[in-house]
Amino acid sequence: MKRIAILTSGGDAPGMNACIRAALRASVATGVHLYGVRHGYNGLIDGDIELMDRRAVANIIHQGGTMLGTARCHEFFDEAGRATAAANLKRTGIDGLIVIGGDGSFRGGNALMQEHGIQVMGVPGTIDNDIYGTDFSIGFDTAVNTALESIDRIRDTALSHERLFFVEVMGRHSGFIAMESAIAGGAEYVVTPEVPVSAEEICLHLNEGFGRDKRSAIVVVAEGENPGHVFDMARKVKKHCGLDSRVCILGHIQRGGSPTARDRILAAKMGVLAVQCLIDDDEENGMVVGEIAGEMCFTPLAESVGKRKELSGNLAALAQLLVE
Ligand code: F6P
Repeated sequence: MKRIAILTSGGDAPGMNACIRAALRASVATGVHLYGVRHGYNGLIDGDIELMDRRAVANIIHQGGTMLGTARCHEFFDEAGRATAAANLKRTGIDGLIVIGGDGSFRGGNALMQEHGIQVMGVPGTIDNDIYGTDFSIGFDTAVNTALESIDRIRDTALSHERLFFVEVMGRHSGFIAMESAIAGGAEYVVTPEVPVSAEEICLHLNEGFGRDKRSAIVVVAEGENPGHVFDMARKVKKHCGLDSRVCILGHIQRGGSPTARDRILAAKMGVLAVQCLIDDDEENGMVVGEIAGEMCFTPLAESVGKRKELSGNLAALAQLLVE
């Protein structure tokens, strides 16, 4: 019987559990043994690998986080770490691996495949939505909705006090969460890592609104490389044009919670497809599964990790028109 393994790696994302469940069910349906690896690549190196059955994934479809645990594994950056991981997989008779995670996790998976011939399938699971080769990654929809709920709440108090708020959302290298939550929340301005702006520009834009009819405003800011930098931004704005503000950092709240229906369905489609590719000798391996314009598709791992996913021009144009 064929044996494959699954792990979650990097930042957790709501819907990872739904993906694990779907992969397990697809494996059982095709008579394949699916092994769960605990705590990402750490579990591969430590040999923390266990056969799963249907009971292992019972009642997890609605839960955030990941039942397998996750980690950012530094040992896996080294060839020696990957050699240990490959030996553990081979000892267990496993020749295929599903990696649910982000860009960094796929880099590790690609190296494991190149160096040791383990077949790897990448499933995009990150709230940041910054994976090249798919319109959406697992967890993004839930994170946007969580951020939006908070922005709506902040709007209530901003209106009541006639205040300016800076709301920092997640997104290390990309502004997808910021952009979508700003559009959906009717924000007055949005700042993404892709388009750095100065305090002068923010002041100019906000003062236009205040000069017109605004009494309160919300600026949504992606955290970028420096979580908390929004405090600095608020200080600079105050210094430049005197606008007083309050700052709210949403942080890891956005990573938790029950996945939305969209995330569960995307997770199910991707999990099943990843299993099918690994067990079907005619299918290509070493791919990232994705969904583009409603169609499931594949992008080679090496291509996905080598390319940057740009913010959609349509989204940016929409923000330009509506965020004011
Ligand atoms: O998983 C992606 C992400 O949530 C980014 O948006 C964020 O910058 C980063 O992870 C935070 O990572 P950590 O939980 O390791 O602090």
